Amino acid sequence: MTSNELIDLELKFGAHNYHPLPVVLERGEGVYVWDVEGKRYFDFLSAYSAVNQGHCHPHIISALEKQSKMLTLTSRAFHNNVLGQYEEFITKLFKYDKVLPMNTGVEGGETANKLARKWGYLKKNIPEDKARIIFAKGNFWGRTLAAISSSDDPTSYKGFGPYMPGYSLIPYNDIPSLENELKDPNVCAFMVEPIQGEAGVVVPDNQYLSEVRRLCTKYNVLFIADEVQTGIARTGKMLACDHENVRPDILILGKALSGGVFPVSAVLCDDEIMMCIKPGEHGSTFGGNPLACKVAIAALEVVIKENLSDNAHKLGKLFRAKLSSFAANNSLISEIRGKGLLNAMVINDSPESSTAWDICIKLRDNGLLAKPTHGNIIRFAPPLIINDSQIEECCDIIKTTIANF
Ligand SMILES: Cc1ncc(COP(=O)(O)O)c(C=O)c1O
Repeated sequence: MTSNELIDLELKFGAHNYHPLPVVLERGEGVYVWDVEGKRYFDFLSAYSAVNQGHCHPHIISALEKQSKMLTLTSRAFHNNVLGQYEEFITKLFKYDKVLPMNTGVEGGETANKLARKWGYLKKNIPEDKARIIFAKGNFWGRTLAAISSSDDPTSYKGFGPYMPGYSLIPYNDIPSLENELKDPNVCAFMVEPIQGEAGVVVPDNQYLSEVRRLCTKYNVLFIADEVQTGIARTGKMLACDHENVRPDILILGKALSGGVFPVSAVLCDDEIMMCIKPGEHGSTFGGNPLACKVAIAALEVVIKENLSDNAHKLGKLFRAKLSSFAANNSLISEIRGKGLLNAMVINDSPESSTAWDICIKLRDNGLLAKPTHGNIIRFAPPLIINDSQIEECCDIIKTTIANF
């Protein structure tokens, strides 16, 4: 079937809850994907940073294949012989006492919220049903009712009320507003992305995370870092929090924890928090399944062995330098920003205009796939295995596309 026929099929039989760029992919390898007509593209979205290790990484696929022939799912009604090994591996790597395995990023967020509330009642003596969690405006952590209840994006929340009580919003990157909220003894947690991905790669001031850490400690409030998008080497360190040597109380990982082959998410924290949850109080049929555990170990091994953090740091710098000097003389671009290989180009037009979308269509025609986020912002997030010459080639594609636009 052709691309157009396959797109029509999706439109006819699938819910219209997405608006994909018109390209139909059938194969991926490393930094490349191919459409059904055989055209090759650089993938500059990496499935929203889930494919940091590159498409179909042989080490991860081999782990998946091997385990899929042994045992895939037991549920947590029984033990399996991989879960404990994975739990030891990931907790030692990220230096937390314990991990709670889930599947998707949003489930990780839900888990972190439940842990924080329970901790608030058991350890901070917050009166029953009074626990509050503070979020930053512009946050995105998924599409469940809890996640949209903390959103200030009407596209996310409008028409889906009533909303979760006990959630409040403050501006991102605003320490005085945070301190103001944390003074309330009923606040159990502040949940924040170290860089806001979906909001358009919004990088906070230097020392923002250190100040968040300081205030959360001062007011006995849990600092929850949502590193679902920024984690696993994307920003040039294993965690974005590592740039400031900051340790959150609860760490949420997802996306690239699986190398993009399987939904795997994880919530990490110390016993003081994790042991507040007792058997039966939280879980998931698929969470911690042996296939996911093997895949996650392999995905993390690739990140470490191939030193993807350093590559993201080095090539991210090169990418921003090349595009910033081009942008300085181009009125279509108002800003290039980001960290590591999580970057964005802000198009000098209103968020309602179709300019960024139209540019992405031209980029596609020129062999590079990217997608606008929030109207006039184009996110550039290639797999972290990309090399110098490929990054140079991609910068040339982007520059030529914009120059001819
Ligand atoms: C920061 C952040 N948290 C959570 C999520 C939700 O992850 P998932 O789509 O796997 O539920 C996302 C997804 O984009 C995200 O960017």
